[in-house]
Amino acid sequence: MASIDPLTLPLDQTSADDLAAAGLEYARVDADGDAYRPFQRAVARGFLGGESTDDEAENARLTLRTRRLTAVYDRDGVEAGVPVGTVDSWATELTTSPGRQTDLWAISAVTVAPTHRRRGIARAMLGGELRTAAAAGFALAGLTVTEATIYGRWGFSPATWASDVEIDTTRARWTGPTPAGRLDFVPRDGLADRIGAVHDRVRRQRPGSVPGWDGRWRGVAGVAPGDKQGEKVRAVVYRDTEGVDRGIVVYTIADRDDFAAHDLDVRALFAESPDAYAALWRFVLEHDLVGTVKAWLQAPVPPVQWMVADRRAVTATLTDHQWLRILDVPRALASRAYTAPLRVAMRVTDPLGFADGAWHVVIADDGEAVVEPVADGDAIDVEMTVNALGSILLGGTRVTELAAAGIASGQPGALAAIDRSFAPSMTPLLDIWY
Ligand SMILES: CC(C)(COP(=O)(O)OP(=O)(O)OC[C@H]1O[C@@H](n2cnc3c(N)ncnc32)[C@H](O)[C@@H]1OP(=O)(O)O)[C@@H](O)C(=O)NCCC(=O)NCCS
Repeated sequence: MASIDPLTLPLDQTSADDLAAAGLEYARVDADGDAYRPFQRAVARGFLGGESTDDEAENARLTLRTRRLTAVYDRDGVEAGVPVGTVDSWATELTTSPGRQTDLWAISAVTVAPTHRRRGIARAMLGGELRTAAAAGFALAGLTVTEATIYGRWGFSPATWASDVEIDTTRARWTGPTPAGRLDFVPRDGLADRIGAVHDRVRRQRPGSVPGWDGRWRGVAGVAPGDKQGEKVRAVVYRDTEGVDRGIVVYTIADRDDFAAHDLDVRALFAESPDAYAALWRFVLEHDLVGTVKAWLQAPVPPVQWMVADRRAVTATLTDHQWLRILDVPRALASRAYTAPLRVAMRVTDPLGFADGAWHVVIADDGEAVVEPVADGDAIDVEMTVNALGSILLGGTRVTELAAAGIASGQPGALAAIDRSFAPSMTPLLDIWY
């Protein structure tokens, strides 16, 4: 984990100057100060939420206290203390290969008041985040997005994909394994910690994962103020034959008119082992009085479809989920382990400058990358945008497919060699929103 605390980093002066030229003020917000509540109101409004109660605001404060909050103010407004732009960020880590993590500058809460949209406020805030992260030594920034149209212009690109899954239980007779461990309901008391403990082990093994946080797990557990479904939350753990928690499913059941065919909504299903995955999925699919099981942020091709008699009982809708932005090419490429040796000269184009350049990328038999600048006059084998490099970094997509789409180019042999080398040992997945 990065030793730098983002909360101590100064405001980006370029963004401050750009916003000042437009009559706007750029400022850091202290989560324990008076500016916190208006900041939190602005974020809720930006994501189309209602006015939060005191309890909800206090609950959010527990998370936002750990983040770098930045706001944009229009001091001529009727509510001059309520920001017209918000963003928060924090240092976290991204799993790049099983058991291997790298520092990540995570960005969230990007909102601009509808009264102030399309005046360049988001541009100033995102520029400020990227410059601050790069200056602090982060090789990667990341976020999850409401719309796929926003962040490409700042060099972000999808790096992990996830499926929303819906399963018709009447067609999904279980044909998968029957693990030897056991399932037990667990109380809501202490549930958030229990979810977090399982997830923390799962996320370290899965490329694309980032850690959750207490507030995220309180939300999943149904104990966050304002959760209208909170009382309905149930949780079941899978314990292996040694009695160790290896997986957990947290769910609610929504009423349907047909009492024998309710909807079971999976809030989280985290499995540390194939046994835990099979046992928990079997549990939800065979739950009495349930006709449909829905789960979000599952693997692109969810393994459960191999465990039921009729795979078409499982509908998986694929979406881009985590977007990464490479800020330092050599360090980003060196952050993961590779599957096959490689020797290639790669040019990366980045209109914002952070990642612009050309490098020799050499991967030896040990799977480690050594990345050094290309000297003037050296031949280049492949070219791609910083966006394309972000998309292939974890192996979630193939560079040959991006070449077919015209956003990478080069010698076919070199492109194919990159595909072999970048192939992930496990399909990358981010299983939370951040
Ligand atoms: C998305 C949002 C933050 C953009 O803020 P903004 O201040 O209006 O954006 P800017 O004026 O800085 O726009 C910068 C560029 O992005 C484009 N852009 C902004 N929002 C866009 C959107 N939703 N879709 C496509 N393009 C968008 C602008 O047209 C502009 O394009 P240009 O580079 O060609 O000039 C704002 O619309 C918002 O708060 N939306 C609701 C909350 C949300 O979805 N936030 C994102 C969370 S991941």
